[in-house]
Amino acid sequence: MDFNLETLLKSREELGRLGGRDVLAKAHRFEIADILRGIGLYPYYCELDRNEGAVAVLQGREVLMFGSNNYLALTTHPEVRAAAEAAIRDLGTSMTGSRLLNGTARYHVEFEAEIAEFVGKEAALVSSTGYQANIGVLSGLLGGDGVAVLDRFCHASLVDGCRVAGARVVYFRHNDATDLDRVLAEVPAETPALVVVDGVYSMEGDVADLPRIVAVAQRHKTRLLLDDAHGIGVLGPGGRGTAAHFGLTGEVDLIVGTFSKSLASVGGFVAGDARTMDYVKHFGRSFVFSASAPPAAVGAARAALAVLKREPGIVDRLRANADHWREGLRTIGLDVGRSSTPICPVVTGQEVTTIGMWKDLLDAGVFVNPVLYPAVPRNRAMLRTSVTAAHTLEQLDRALEAFRDVAGTYGVVSEGAGEGWPSSVA
Ligand SMILES: Cc1ncc(COP(=O)(O)O)c(C=O)c1O
Repeated sequence: MDFNLETLLKSREELGRLGGRDVLAKAHRFEIADILRGIGLYPYYCELDRNEGAVAVLQGREVLMFGSNNYLALTTHPEVRAAAEAAIRDLGTSMTGSRLLNGTARYHVEFEAEIAEFVGKEAALVSSTGYQANIGVLSGLLGGDGVAVLDRFCHASLVDGCRVAGARVVYFRHNDATDLDRVLAEVPAETPALVVVDGVYSMEGDVADLPRIVAVAQRHKTRLLLDDAHGIGVLGPGGRGTAAHFGLTGEVDLIVGTFSKSLASVGGFVAGDARTMDYVKHFGRSFVFSASAPPAAVGAARAALAVLKREPGIVDRLRANADHWREGLRTIGLDVGRSSTPICPVVTGQEVTTIGMWKDLLDAGVFVNPVLYPAVPRNRAMLRTSVTAAHTLEQLDRALEAFRDVAGTYGVVSEGAGEGWPSSVA
């Protein structure tokens, strides 16, 4: 087939405007995915046969997994599996209703107390996903007259939560407390407002500058929500998250988390003071209008949290792996941005290069995620890589070797890099 890949990729941005009255027209003319599938360059919805943490099986072939959020690799832990099975035996497969009406089980309530204690807050509220935790807390607290002040790189679920609330959204420059100060100065004093940041940014792997952000929010008498989906189990003492990492738990009003990353399950939570949690559970739309997290998911996440509390050494293993991986990529000469966590981007800036590298890495047995606009800014196409506590040094170095070979082919290696690597491969 004769086409220019760059032009093909760009053409997706026009689709939304096609069709006039007919909302299906754009779907009927959406051919990019089919073309990419036809030439083996379609990188999404990959079907995994097995997923063990550090290793997965994709279409019958074993690959090293560097594209999950399974940071503590607890999804196959025997206690976590057993807890999911026990929960199904106790309560069946679903509560078949919202938390408000008929979907609350003893499991939800007991786990809420455990989460609150873990993150250092008075109370917590369990939701069906992390996405829904954000929809719930933001729709509950921000009315149509509210202003949400978001870091420019905040997760899409936070933006969507503000949309559901009908709140006005204003952005400040990524992780820039001075710009936050400027934006907050323009919000009238009596307008309900909330500052919203991620703890660890999901694509860039950098950490919120919480000390400065807290200081600015307090100066403007504005409450602060921290989405710590990627910070729980990763940062802070025993994996207690970004606020604990900075010793600022008391200064952050609301902490959101998810079970779908370190806690090896699906579900989410919001934690804060008890009165606010009681309010959100009555006014947050996802708590009222969507079914509760199923027993197996809650059981698995509870067991994962219990393992984490009992064995905080897993977090140390994760951090050691993350440091080795990041330094390895850096030494090859790759641009890892400002990452300081297990999420490590390899920024290429070019979509075609990103897709090509993704494919070559997969052929070499390394699974990573290509991330394109609009998930990242236009000029920041990247391969999102992430490590787990379960990767061995040999697996990390094998994947680094593949990165070095592939990166060389695509010319994305900076000058003078490569000296002194690999550290542990002969
Ligand atoms: C920062 C952040 N918040 C919220 C979510 C949503 O979590 P979940 O997948 O549990 O719905 C994600 C998921 O990727 C995330 O990265």
